[in-house]
Amino acid sequence: MTKVTLFEVGPRDGLQNEAHPLGPDDRVSLIKRLAHAGMPYVEAGSFVSPKWVPQMADTDKVLAQLDAEAYRYPVLTPNMKGFEAARAAGADHVAVFGAASETFSQKNINCNITESLRRFAPVMEEARKHNIRIRGYVSCVLGCPYEGDVAVATVVEVAEWLLEHGAHEISLGDTIGVGTPACARAMVKQVAQSVPRDRLALHFHDTYGQALANILACLEEDIRIIDVAVAGLGGCPYAAGASGNVASEDVLYMLEGMGFETGIDLDQIVATGNWVSHLLNRQNNSKVGRARS
Ligand code: HMG
Ligand code: MG
Repeated sequence: MTKVTLFEVGPRDGLQNEAHPLGPDDRVSLIKRLAHAGMPYVEAGSFVSPKWVPQMADTDKVLAQLDAEAYRYPVLTPNMKGFEAARAAGADHVAVFGAASETFSQKNINCNITESLRRFAPVMEEARKHNIRIRGYVSCVLGCPYEGDVAVATVVEVAEWLLEHGAHEISLGDTIGVGTPACARAMVKQVAQSVPRDRLALHFHDTYGQALANILACLEEDIRIIDVAVAGLGGCPYAAGASGNVASEDVLYMLEGMGFETGIDLDQIVATGNWVSHLLNRQNNSKVGRARS
């Protein structure tokens, strides 16, 4: 059976957008449930300014409660300050997050694209030195909440830069979920001319209900890493109206039906999605989760 790797971002991309932040203990419970269900990677938090994203404060306390398992619990690190804090907390997998839109970059990390890459360069250099794995995100690959259409050439440029500077994997983010299958596939095809397909991940939000269709189109392009969020949690604090990532449960259900292997127990993910939705007092945004609750 062909293998697909799911990369769970609910405890980071999901919880960063919740009105009522969860404390480190609840975040750890969520992460452990997801890992126990077989999620190979569970993004554990962010080392960003707590003034900007209070929901991700105390990510060091989260990491302190997780067993060291090689590269399993990545964290976001936008600059050297974040990287040093992540390293002190024992992180062995970090992510820098850039964008293909100047305005989104400015709103999200307070600098333009050129400056963002200047900040990422030493993070990536230090990470390589210490055998810390680096993921690179490119946001707004299919549209920007401020600028509208985004040039694929810019997506390619940022992705190439990340690859050249040592990113192990590059996650292509449809941050506001506006893409449709044909443009998602065309974008991936173009990026894949310079980034190997086995190092590309899909990070699709489901704002317009297109995420599964977009994933299917990109599976046909041989992309085999997919970012997901349990219960469809999430959004982005700097992209008004963006809804959650595609739900882990819905992607798993589709992949199982297509005969792909993930090593993940769908029933346990469904139970976790219902548990966290209850904890957050919100509707479960996974259709599979709702059907099976
Ligand atoms: P800045 O204001 O440019 O940074 O913020 P600065 O270096 O000028 O420092 C300003 C203050 O922030 C100082 O504190 C620094 O110490 C502090 P003050 O003196 O005012 O008390 N600071 C930090 N504190 C903690 N950790 C740090 C850090 N760096 C500086 N690492 C910064 C730059 C990136 C920090 C800020 O803009 C920020 O935190 N932004 C939040 C970014 C974020 O987390 N966005 C959401 C995640 S991205 C996303 O969701 C998209 C993605 O899912 C993919 C997709 O969907 O497309 C990945
Ligand atoms: Mg996201």
